[in-house]
Amino acid sequence: MKFCAVILAAGRGKRMNSLKPKVLHEVLGRPILQYTLDAIKTLNPAKIVIVIGSGAEEVRKRINDEAISFVIQEKLLGTGNALAEAKNALIDIGDSTIVALNGDSPLITAETLEGLLKKHKNDKNYFSFLSFIDDYVSGYGRVLRNKNGKVISIVEDKHTTSENRSIKELNGGVYAMEPEILNCLNRLKKHGSSGEYYITDLVDIASKLGKRVNAYNCPSREIRGINTRAELHQVSEILNSKIIYEWMEKGVTFISPAATLVHPSVSIGKDTIIYPNTYLEGNTSIGENCIIYPGARICDSVLGNGVLVKDCTVIENSKIEDMSTIGPFAHLRPHSTLGRNVKIGNFVELKKTVIGDNTRASHLSYLGDAIVGENVNIGAGTITCNYDGQKKHITKIDSDVFVGSDSQLVAPVTIGKGAYVAAGATVTKNVPPGALAISRVKQRNIENWAARKKLKKQN
Ligand code: UD1
Ligand code: CA
Repeated sequence: MKFCAVILAAGRGKRMNSLKPKVLHEVLGRPILQYTLDAIKTLNPAKIVIVIGSGAEEVRKRINDEAISFVIQEKLLGTGNALAEAKNALIDIGDSTIVALNGDSPLITAETLEGLLKKHKNDKNYFSFLSFIDDYVSGYGRVLRNKNGKVISIVEDKHTTSENRSIKELNGGVYAMEPEILNCLNRLKKHGSSGEYYITDLVDIASKLGKRVNAYNCPSREIRGINTRAELHQVSEILNSKIIYEWMEKGVTFISPAATLVHPSVSIGKDTIIYPNTYLEGNTSIGENCIIYPGARICDSVLGNGVLVKDCTVIENSKIEDMSTIGPFAHLRPHSTLGRNVKIGNFVELKKTVIGDNTRASHLSYLGDAIVGENVNIGAGTITCNYDGQKKHITKIDSDVFVGSDSQLVAPVTIGKGAYVAAGATVTKNVPPGALAISRVKQRNIENWAARKKLKKQN
C-alpha cells in the first residue's frame, strides 16, 4: 500500500522531568521512538520523515538510519506545527496517503497500522484516525461525534467541558490522511492557553469542509503514550509481560514473570526454566533445557542447550556451548567463549577468554586474555596477570593441564599440554608439555617455635 510516514518526535517531554529527549528514554533496552519506527517500517512506506526538535542531534544520532528524512521543528509549537514543519519534506509524495503518528507510543503494532491504512483507503476517507475506549486513562483527546455518529472533532483533555467529559472514546494519536490535507495546515489556530497548534484540529477543519472523516477503534493496550515516568514504567511492564507470555506459549517456564525482564530480541528454547530477578537483555539467545537461577543478567550472549546458570551471575557478550555450568557469582565479561561441559564456578571472572570442552575453573579465579584447552583444571585462586601496566598479554594453557591453587600466570606465557603447575606458583616462563612448574620457596619447619614464643612473652 502506497503511503508516506511522519513520526512526531520533537516534543520536550516536560512531564518526564529529564534532561534526555523523551523519545530516547528506553523501554526494555530500546528507545521509545525505535518501536514506532520499527512498526511503521514493517509496512514499507515510500518515505519516512521524523520531526525532531528537543535534543534533535541526540535523537538523530541514536536512530542513525540513512533511510529517514529528519526535519527540525525549530519552535515546539505543538503537534499541528510539527506536521507543518514536515510539509517541505513531503512535497514530492504525489498522491500518497500520509500516516502521521506520535513517536511516544511504542505499543502500536504494524497490524493495527496496516488495518487503519486499509480502512482509510477502502472507505475513501480524507482523514482517518485510531480511537480507543478507556475509562481510566487521562490526558487524551476525546472524540466528538454528532447525533448520527459522525466524527466532528477531537477535544483535548485540558479543553474538555463538563458536557463532554463523560466521552470514553479517545484519540490514539495515529492518523491517515490524504496529501491535500497539507493545504489545510494554515487553517490551524493557535490555542491561547498552550500557545500550540494541534494536529487534532484537522478533524474539525476537514469535517467542516464536508470531507469524509472516520475514527476506527483499536485495542486500548496499543495506545499508550508515554508522557511521565509512571507511564514509562507501565508501558515497559505491559510489553515485558506480553513477551514473557509469548515465550510461555512456546514452552518456557517462568517462576515469577513480574520479577523477570526479557528484551524483545531475546530468544529462549523449549523447557528452559527462568527463575525470578533474571534479566535477559539485547540479542541474547538461550537454548533448550537450560536453567537460569535467580539474579542472573545475560546480555547479548548465546547459550547452548542444557546450560545451567547459577544465582547472581553476569554474562556479557559471550558464547557458551551445551551442558556448561556458570556461577554462582560468576562474571563472564565480553568475548568469552566456553566449550561444552565447562564449569565456571563461584567468584570466577573471565574476560576475552576461550575455554575448551570439559575444562573447570571452579573457584575464585581471574582469567583474562587467555586461551585454555580441553580437560584443564584451573585451581582455586588462579590469576592470569594479563596486564603489565601498559599492554594486555595472552596466557595460553594447552589441553590436559593441571594448574594448582593460588597460582599466578604472568603473561605472555604458555603452559604446554599435560603440564602441571604446582600450587602457589608464580609462572613467568613457558612450561614445556608434561613438565611440572614449581616456584615456591622450600618449606622449613622450626621445632618448638610456639612454646619458645610463649616463654619469651612471660619474661
Ligand atoms: C496527543 C494528542 C491527543 C492524543 C494523544 C495520544 C494533540 C494536540 N493531542 O496528546 O489528542 O489523545 O496524543 O497519545 O496532538 N510533538 C512534536 N512537537 C511538538 C509537540 C509534540 O513533535 O511541538 C510530538 C511529541 O514528541 C510526541 C507527540 O508529538 O511524540 C505527541 O505530543 P504530546 O505532547 O505527547 O501530546 P499529548 O498531550 O500526549
Ligand atoms: Ca503523548
